Amino acid sequence: MSFKIQPAAPARPNRCQLFGPGSRPALFAKMAASAADVINLDLEDSVAPADKDSARANVIAAINGVDWGNKHLSVRINGLDTPYWYRDVVEVLEQAGDRLDQIMIPKVGNAADIYAVDALVSAIEVAKGRSKPVQFEVIIETAAGLVHVNEIAAASPRMAAMSLGAADYAASMGMQTTGIGGTQDNYYMLAPGGAQHWGDAWHSVSVAIVAACRTHGLLPVDGPFGDFSDDEGFVAQARRAATLGMVGKWAIHPRQIALANAVFTPSAAQIAEARDILAAMKAADATGQGAAVYKGRLVDLASIRQAQVIVRQAEMLAR
Ligand code: COA
Ligand code: MG
Repeated sequence: MSFKIQPAAPARPNRCQLFGPGSRPALFAKMAASAADVINLDLEDSVAPADKDSARANVIAAINGVDWGNKHLSVRINGLDTPYWYRDVVEVLEQAGDRLDQIMIPKVGNAADIYAVDALVSAIEVAKGRSKPVQFEVIIETAAGLVHVNEIAAASPRMAAMSLGAADYAASMGMQTTGIGGTQDNYYMLAPGGAQHWGDAWHSVSVAIVAACRTHGLLPVDGPFGDFSDDEGFVAQARRAATLGMVGKWAIHPRQIALANAVFTPSAAQIAEARDILAAMKAADATGQGAAVYKGRLVDLASIRQAQVIVRQAEMLAR
């Protein structure tokens, strides 16, 4: 371990982030009643330009008026390359009460983007006497976002989470892809004999996001999976993301919520095995050994740390 201790990410569940357009207020109560841990009210790409002002008003009314229970409540503002974003920040922060937990900044390209939003948010918070600092979550969905992912993660103490936005990322990178996330028809190796062996076109950027988040104590999250009739494809994408260290995934339709929650909640068997490994190591430790054998395989201090990740997650979700 480096001299610098790896900071812990916020200790809150983030298994599923449910999105809904700010221009469809009829969805808000349904979102509040859902099983998603995080709610993202959208002012950006699911809202047509003509509806930006009314969507903002809808979202402010919903933050103040809907009972969001214990959900983490976030608003996705428009990108810093649009004429909308400053009004999103000013109007939402000035008019929404302290119930707003977080804002999501899309298409972030470098740390200065975060600095700009931070300056505006900080001034409004002081002016309005907000009791609780608003957190930031960002979407890595451009080439610049990937290149500067580490400085973005470190850009502000407000930074809490980072998502991969597969569709805009693919467009920005000039990738020949179809569909939002998941398997890409043309991304394969030929195995000996000619069978197609599928690769994961999202692997490299996902790992970059997880590493930046873990280094700086943020939650890494997998973004949208567009084909909401393809449950199997969603689950496969979510499982890969979980394996790489991500803590959750977006839902763009309610049917994806239970799928995400199932993947990102450690199973009873996983928890039991993690506890057994910790017990085996404790027993080994008591006899002065640094390693032990559990079910025919080596467990050592690294296994403890892996097991602790699962046990800590389970304890947090049980709260
Ligand atoms: N949150 C909560 N409930 C939702 C919902 C959402 N995002 N999307 C749909 N529902 C509800 C519908 O109102 C409907 O409820 P009902 O059974 O009471 O009538 C039910 O779920 C089934 O909806 P369905 O008819 O299949 O979907 P739709 O045609 O109304 O909407 C989408 C489909 C994709 C347009 C809609 O889900 C949506 O806007 N998703 C979010 C898009 C978004 O925010 N994108 C930005 C991030 S990528
Ligand atoms: Mg996007």
